[in-house]
Formats: sequence, structure tokens, C-alpha cells
Amino acid sequence: MTGAATGIGAAITERLAGQGMRLVLVARDGARLEAAAERLQAEHGAQVSTLALDLSHQGAPSRLTEWLADTGTEVDVLVNNAGAGLMARVADSDPARVRGLVDLNAGAVAELTALLLPAMVARGRGAIVNIASTGAYAPAPYVAAYAASKAFVLSFTQAVWAETRATGVRVVAVSPGPTDTAMNTRRMPGKRGPGSVADTVMSAMRGRGPAVVDGRLNTFQTLVFGRLLPASAAARIAERSLRKAALGR
Ligand SMILES: NC(=O)c1ccc[n+]([C@@H]2O[C@H](COP(=O)([O-])OP(=O)(O)OC[C@H]3O[C@@H](n4cnc5c(N)ncnc54)[C@H](OP(=O)(O)O)[C@@H]3O)[C@@H](O)[C@H]2O)c1
Repeated sequence: MTGAATGIGAAITERLAGQGMRLVLVARDGARLEAAAERLQAEHGAQVSTLALDLSHQGAPSRLTEWLADTGTEVDVLVNNAGAGLMARVADSDPARVRGLVDLNAGAVAELTALLLPAMVARGRGAIVNIASTGAYAPAPYVAAYAASKAFVLSFTQAVWAETRATGVRVVAVSPGPTDTAMNTRRMPGKRGPGSVADTVMSAMRGRGPAVVDGRLNTFQTLVFGRLLPASAAARIAERSLRKAALGR
């Protein structure tokens, strides 16, 4: 479980610990991971290990799989949840930050999937849940790299789902819309809690399709912005609605 100690990730780990799963929590902040592990141990009697890693760094996903091999840990469920946002015009953005966001949100997700999938396929069971976003469904000005990275996650996951359908391994992308976490502190109508997203993740793991959107309103919006409108219209509408939040005018 990546991005495990806060927000949506913390809510998912609660559900998984409640099912008696042994957990490996990964994120950058080791102290926060330890505190989350202690809480899960106290509340659910869960067996929890932690590994502090910056997944945007090259080589970090293979460090994780080396650690798993060294500790004899077999992964039945991989949840790629760690992610970062960036709201600004691309022309005003630090290029290194844009690259780091793509490396984390898209690169680490693809690499971890590729690293852990073969053993799952060999065992004929397992699950990979990749957390995308409703932003994956259409271009989103002022969060351009973020939305594009999530479009990668969605497309990649849908394709891997088709490749693995007959293997016994469940592969699914779950797309939250605006969710009340440290990543999104803006007041917005229809915002959902991390617990609702975690419930959607748990039911998506039991489901069959390649992609699930959290919540009815979010599902409707992805249909309108992703399917009904041409990308140019979707981008123009999103530009107007995000301009104030991004530029303050
Ligand atoms: N909140 C929303 O409105 C929303 C909407 C759609 C999708 N999502 C997606 O949901 C996922 C969880 O986000 P959240 O809303 O729960 O926000 P969050 O609380 O900020 O969670 C992000 C998690 O990712 C970890 N992380 C960030 N950078 C990392 C790095 N370089 N290496 C390893 N771990 C890293 C963070 O822990 P450390 O800081 O300790 O590393 C944190 O636990 C993300 O993929 C996000 O894109 C969120």
C-alpha cells in the first residue's frame, strides 16, 4: 500500500486491516508511517511493516521489491495510491516538480505494477488497485500534468486489466473526485470523504470491470467531460472553472 498513512490511503488501510490482512505501508514520512502502523496494530491487531521511500526517485520501486524479497513478503494486493498534485500554469511551474509529479503518479505506478504482477499471475490470484482521478477523463488546465498523469494511470490499468482477465488477478483503476484530504483542502460542492473512496475501492476489488469512479455525481461528470464533450470544449470549460483557484482571478 503506497501513500498509506494519510487521506484516502489511511482509509483503505483501515479497511484492509479490518479484513485481517498483513500490511506493508510505504510513503516518504517514516514517523507518520510508524504512527499509522501502531494505530492499526492497536485497533485491528494487524501485522504491519513500514518502509519509508520516495517513490518519485528512480530505483525506488525496485528497492521496495528487494525489501519484499529480503523479508520473504508475498504481495497479494498492491494498492498504488501515493500521488502528488500541482496547481499552476505549466508556464509558471518548476520543470523539476512537473517531472517529479509524473515520475510518482505515473512512473512508479507502472513500474510497481510491472514488478509485482508476474508473481500474482504465476500464483493465479491477487489484485492491483491503481488510484487514478476523475481528472483522468479529460484535460484539466492548471492541473495539466496531474490530470495527464492520471489519464496514464487509467489507460494503463484498463489495458493491463484486459491482459490479465483470464489469469485470476484482479486489476482495476479507481477514480476519486474531489475528496477531503490534505491534497485537496478547497471548499467544493459534492466533496466526498476518504472513507467513501475506501468503500468504493473495497467493492471495486470484488467487481469485474477495469475502472470505477467514486460516487454518482463524479461518475456523471466523467461521462460528460470524458465522453460527451470534445476534449477542446472540456478543456475550455475546465479552464474557466479552475482559473480562480489557480490564478486567484
Ligand atoms: N483528494 C482528492 O481530491 C483526490 C482526488 C482524486 C484522486 N486523488 C488521489 O488519491 C491519492 C491519495 O491522495 P489523498 O487525497 O489521500 O492525499 P494525501 O493525503 O496527500 O495522500 C498522498 C499520499 O502519498 C504519499 N506520497 C506523496 N508523495 C510521495 C512520494 N514521492 N513517495 C511516496 N509517497 C508519497 C504521501 O505520504 P508522504 O508525504 O509521507 O510521502 C501521502 O500519504 C492520490 O493518488 C491522489 O492523486 C485524490
